[in-house]
Amino acid sequence: MKSSNIRPSRFHKNPFLHELNFTTAQKIQIGLMSVTVFPVRLLLVCFFMLLAWPFAFVALLGRSEFAVEPQTCWRRIVDVCLRVLMRAMWFCGGFHWVKVKGEKADPSEAPILTVAPHSAYFDAIPVTNTMCSIVTKLEGKSLPVWGTLMSYIRPVFVYRSDQDSRKKTVEEIKRRVTSGGQWPQFMIFPEGTCTNRSGLVLFKVGAFIPGLPVQPVILRYPNQLDTVTWTWQGPGGLKILWLTLCQVHNSMEIEYLPVYTPSEEERENPALFANNVRKLMAKALDVPLIDLSFDDRDICLSKGPLGIFNFSSLLEFNQLVCRLGQKAATNSSKMEEEATKACKLQGEWLSVESFAQCLGLPVSDTLKQVHSMFDQNEDGNIDYRHYVIALLTVCRPTKPKENLKLAFKMYETQEDGNVVEDDLATILEIMLGVEDMCLSGLFLSLEEDTGKITYDEFCQFIDQHPDFVSNYIRFKDHPSTLCLGRAKNSNGSEQKKTD
Ligand SMILES: *[C@@H]1O[C@H](CO)[C@@H](O)[C@H](O)[C@H]1NC(C)=O
Ligand SMILES: *[C@@H]1O[C@H](CO)[C@@H](O)[C@H](O)[C@H]1NC(C)=O
Ligand SMILES: *[C@@H]1O[C@H](CO)[C@@H](O)[C@H](O)[C@H]1NC(C)=O
Ligand SMILES: *[C@@H]1O[C@H](CO)[C@@H](O)[C@H](O)[C@H]1NC(C)=O
Repeated sequence: MKSSNIRPSRFHKNPFLHELNFTTAQKIQIGLMSVTVFPVRLLLVCFFMLLAWPFAFVALLGRSEFAVEPQTCWRRIVDVCLRVLMRAMWFCGGFHWVKVKGEKADPSEAPILTVAPHSAYFDAIPVTNTMCSIVTKLEGKSLPVWGTLMSYIRPVFVYRSDQDSRKKTVEEIKRRVTSGGQWPQFMIFPEGTCTNRSGLVLFKVGAFIPGLPVQPVILRYPNQLDTVTWTWQGPGGLKILWLTLCQVHNSMEIEYLPVYTPSEEERENPALFANNVRKLMAKALDVPLIDLSFDDRDICLSKGPLGIFNFSSLLEFNQLVCRLGQKAATNSSKMEEEATKACKLQGEWLSVESFAQCLGLPVSDTLKQVHSMFDQNEDGNIDYRHYVIALLTVCRPTKPKENLKLAFKMYETQEDGNVVEDDLATILEIMLGVEDMCLSGLFLSLEEDTGKITYDEFCQFIDQHPDFVSNYIRFKDHPSTLCLGRAKNSNGSEQKKTD
């Protein structure tokens, strides 16, 4: 598969990764703090949280989900108490002081604050300081103590996997922000996921759909050791709590940027609005833009011997098939169906029109782009099997073996379940996202080099050789050495090696 060259690829970074390396001095410090300061701090943090709970609980009594409540005297007292208790909690967590630059705008000026980058639950500090509402996962609501505290700030809960719920969330945000400043301001983390702050990933458009002015807020943690990052690959939630409480002091900076008022064009196009705000925030933070989103996470994190090596073209493909609506409708049985369809075509070469017909879609620019990604010979024809393998890979990046099994099904000769070397090379090229695959190392190390292999034999080989990618195969940009690319036929099928 090749990139469509529509735009430069910025996909080689993985901000969902966080690796911590400690110096000896840091290890000693953490060791000492673990047995001295850490237990005391943890106890105090829990104490303040528990102390805050009854206030939040009382405030929640008799509150309606949908009505604005009048600011009575006792509510104000509760509010002040909670702010003080929360501040004390963060203080005990080592956030002794927090530097604040700029000023929070008035709700009437900017009903939504967009906060980035998002790295972990410590990002709740600006929320508890201002008692703004947030948008958060529904799962949080049922957590003991924390769930009650969170409910106090009147969050909008979102159930992530439900498309309908996303729509409701946006409607609820809209309803509140257009209430004329009666509801609390919103703090929204538009990235929708945690990163290691090395760049700003794509923003979700929810905060930008109402088309109202937003105030960008940027967060910085200028610490020597980054203990506050909770990404999908790296230390877990409890470990970062432990490491953070073991630091003498944790620095944090909150900067309120000037209110951003959307232009007419941005009001009509929330995606443009979101992207312009993202650019502005990245500039203020002095970090690059990374065109990845929460949904690309699994592709970036695929691991193991059959993990994706270079995800740039697969990510691009992923965005295109999402746009075509081909991904949402995909489940295991649908994938089997696609594989069967590909088998029936028996390697027939498809033009754009036949490809569109095969997918049951009209010919569109997006569809043409997908088609061109597989048009290796540049003669306007593609092999449907290549498309199916790429689809399998982006839909189930965590299950490469199952994908491989289906891929074998599409290529195996009917009698013995064997796949020839060149076909396996094509399969692996697409699954690993690489070019010029060379499998001679693999086939030479088999007991008998017949130039073909079955799924079971191949799986067994991978299980026995976890270093399979580095030692038995070669491709372009392989980490160890170069492989001579094989000459390609005019019709794109790779020439059989002559031994
Ligand atoms: C953070 O993400 C970048 C990619 O944007 C990556 O290169 C870097 O290694 C990551 N940092 C850590 C500490 O893992
Ligand atoms: C990944 O592939 C793209 C093109 O498909 C290429 O531009 C990029 O350099 C490759 N990255 C690595 C790390 O090999
Ligand atoms: C898979 O999706 C199809 C529709 O695309 C549906 O008819 C089928 O029941 C689904 N199968 C499973 C196992 O969910
Ligand atoms: C590709 O070309 C080779 C010879 O150049 C031929 O043997 C083979 O059948 C062709 N394959 C297809 C799929 O057209």
